[in-house]
Amino acid sequence: MLTGDSNVLITGVTGLIGGEILRRLTGRPRNGRVWALVRPLEGRAPADRLRDRLARSGDDGSSVCESVAPVAGDVLDADWGLSTPVRDEIVADVDVIIHNAADTSFAARRDTTRTNVGSVRRLIEFARACRRPPLIAYMSTASNAGRVSGLCLAEDDGCRPENDHFNEYTQSKAVAEQILRESGLPVLVLRPTIVLSAGLPDPAFARQILWCAPLGRVFRALPIDPAGWVDVVDVAFVAETALRLLETSARRHACYHLSAGTVGGVTIGELAALVDQVYGRKSGLRLVPPAEWSRAEHREHVRTPLQRRVFRSLRHYLPFLNMDVVYDNARLRADLGAAAPAVATIESYLPDLLRLIRPKAALKEAALP
Ligand SMILES: NC(=O)c1ccc[n+]([C@@H]2O[C@H](COP(=O)([O-])OP(=O)(O)OC[C@H]3O[C@@H](n4cnc5c(N)ncnc54)[C@H](OP(=O)(O)O)[C@@H]3O)[C@@H](O)[C@H]2O)c1
Repeated sequence: MLTGDSNVLITGVTGLIGGEILRRLTGRPRNGRVWALVRPLEGRAPADRLRDRLARSGDDGSSVCESVAPVAGDVLDADWGLSTPVRDEIVADVDVIIHNAADTSFAARRDTTRTNVGSVRRLIEFARACRRPPLIAYMSTASNAGRVSGLCLAEDDGCRPENDHFNEYTQSKAVAEQILRESGLPVLVLRPTIVLSAGLPDPAFARQILWCAPLGRVFRALPIDPAGWVDVVDVAFVAETALRLLETSARRHACYHLSAGTVGGVTIGELAALVDQVYGRKSGLRLVPPAEWSRAEHREHVRTPLQRRVFRSLRHYLPFLNMDVVYDNARLRADLGAAAPAVATIESYLPDLLRLIRPKAALKEAALP
């Protein structure tokens, strides 16, 4: 269990979720130490990269940086690339490891297995070397069930490496989760659904998922089912829920969805209407259920070089958008009870996030292979 006295090693702190967990962790009364593993990229020291990340949350970083030791590392390397003195210190004292670092790309050309499975193999070696077996919180993903559709998925139905997957990312996350669970180490698996950077002022975080919002500028119609459900949550919910699950003694399971579930889900049609409203579009993007997307329709709507290029990239995302799946969060509600954080309604933050996105930048991202 995580307490104020626990010594914590956390990865992925320059990313969306890890950065928000770190901010909340250091905002709590604490005596324990926190080591934040950061890759020293582009000649920037870990402390500077951490400060840059905190600035992306509109945070000057002073209070976080006072209570955290940013340590250089790379989760692909033995001992996660920590220097020998830092490694020895952590091995002797760590109580909780929160592993968020991952390659989150959906693109076909990326070898996400290398980072997502490789880092977990290194984590297992590292945790086994620790003096006390640390509790490992592993940030998995609710989408690691692979190709499923039209249902509310329970935790026991997830993590299916053997299933057909839409992309290597979700499969690599399933493989990694399975390896970790089979390691016999104390593990808490956290499976967020789609996470939006609600409340953060950073355009790149907003684009990470919402790059597809301005697609109405390129297409008049797309093969997306407006009646399909999507499960979307805000990053504050994910970060706070992760910590509360680590902190509670009422935890009865080793795996939880961090999701909106059946009550909080929205349909793609509702989302698209919100997007049109914010962009002030009278005639929005027409969403066509994939079964009704004919060859003729395709020829009519995917004609120009830009449309063709963007549509090629979209191929990786369309099956995912059309899954029509939400993730059951009854476990979370039952075990956290009144302490379960509320999921923010998408109407409360989507307009602000969309205003951060410059359509040109988003479309450039959309056209990436
Ligand atoms: N965002 C979502 O919608 C979502 C949904 C479900 C699950 N998740 C899971 O939640 C976790 C965090 O996601 P996120 O959206 O916050 O990801 P993100 O913003 O893409 O951040 C990824 C983090 O991983 C770090 N990283 C990647 N490779 C590394 C390496 N070799 N060594 C050290 N650090 C490395 C990155 O560091 P650099 O800055 O050095 O690149 C960055 O801090 C991931 O495990 C993801 O699978 C995310």
